[in-house]
Amino acid sequence: AARLAVLAGAFLPGLAFAEYGLNFPAPVTPIAQKIFDLHMLILWICVAIFVVVFGFMFYSIAKHRKSLGARPATFHDNVKLEVFWTIIPFLILVGMAIPSTATLIEMEDTSRSDMTVKITGYQWKWKYDYPDHDVSFFSNLSTPRDQIENRADKGDHYLIEVDNPVVLPVKKKVRFLLTANDVIHAWWVPQLGVKKDAIPGFINEMWTYIEEPGVYRGQCAELCGKDHGFMPIVVNAVSQEEFDKWVASQKQRAAGEAAAADKVWSKNELLAKGKQVYQQCAACHGPNGEGVGPFPKMTGSKIATGPIAEHLNIVLNGKPGTAMQAFGPQLSDADIAAVVTYERNALGNQVGDIVQPAQ
Ligand code: CUA
Repeated sequence: AARLAVLAGAFLPGLAFAEYGLNFPAPVTPIAQKIFDLHMLILWICVAIFVVVFGFMFYSIAKHRKSLGARPATFHDNVKLEVFWTIIPFLILVGMAIPSTATLIEMEDTSRSDMTVKITGYQWKWKYDYPDHDVSFFSNLSTPRDQIENRADKGDHYLIEVDNPVVLPVKKKVRFLLTANDVIHAWWVPQLGVKKDAIPGFINEMWTYIEEPGVYRGQCAELCGKDHGFMPIVVNAVSQEEFDKWVASQKQRAAGEAAAADKVWSKNELLAKGKQVYQQCAACHGPNGEGVGPFPKMTGSKIATGPIAEHLNIVLNGKPGTAMQAFGPQLSDADIAAVVTYERNALGNQVGDIVQPAQ
């Protein structure tokens, strides 16, 4: 009974998460459906083989359990038996190979797509470009890191969110172009049945066709460094009408960002925005800049006392030979002004003001 209690203790927490399921998540694309069906087909073939093989084994064990001292058969070939056990596995393998190959070929066919999305992996975020719609944005982890760590300590299961999800129209063939900026990542959303490596200097292709509107989640699936576990993928599949609205709002946002450069910001607005921008620095450098690289020397170092241009140069252009990448493509002037103001005021890093807050 004590042993049973221990066993129950070990497995019950797992059962409590039964909502996460033991099988693949529900497929929402034709390819994911085919992968699911293949998986079930092969599973049942394996179950049948298991039952037959182990059935024979247990039957023999039971039947001959009192055969101690018996003499084994001494024949050394049996053509009928050998033909039988060659043909049966051959047929099983062909039976699995035909639907597998057909699915693989279909997965690779990115022709006649309705639209294209380029996905670029970064340490540790994704960039999405919609060349047909002139839309482009980064998708960063938005759940605060301390919250994730606190909840992970408690063994909590929960979803981690991104600031900008990928939005895709349903019932459209979307072609993905995949690459990476630094190391190899992999874009993986199980319910869509897509998973492929994003390799620097190389473009991979894949496609999807989502049938049901919904939110589908994934995760970088190639170990890519310290925050590999913190580059989630969130896909919002919406109707064409909603997608068009979203495209329009993205364009408005881009225009707004351009206008923000000319806007006069209040100090509080700058601090709030700066805190948000600083999350990207903190992903590597820690909440107080005490993490990796030369950043921790900011306070009281020669970067801190030297011209701010030196620090900004590294932020905007990256530092070759280190993990510090160029943030220039994703930071607006307003972002930079905000994060500098935030660091100076909230963190006390004497990097100097580049903006005089209004009022
Ligand atoms: Cu990106 Cu793992």
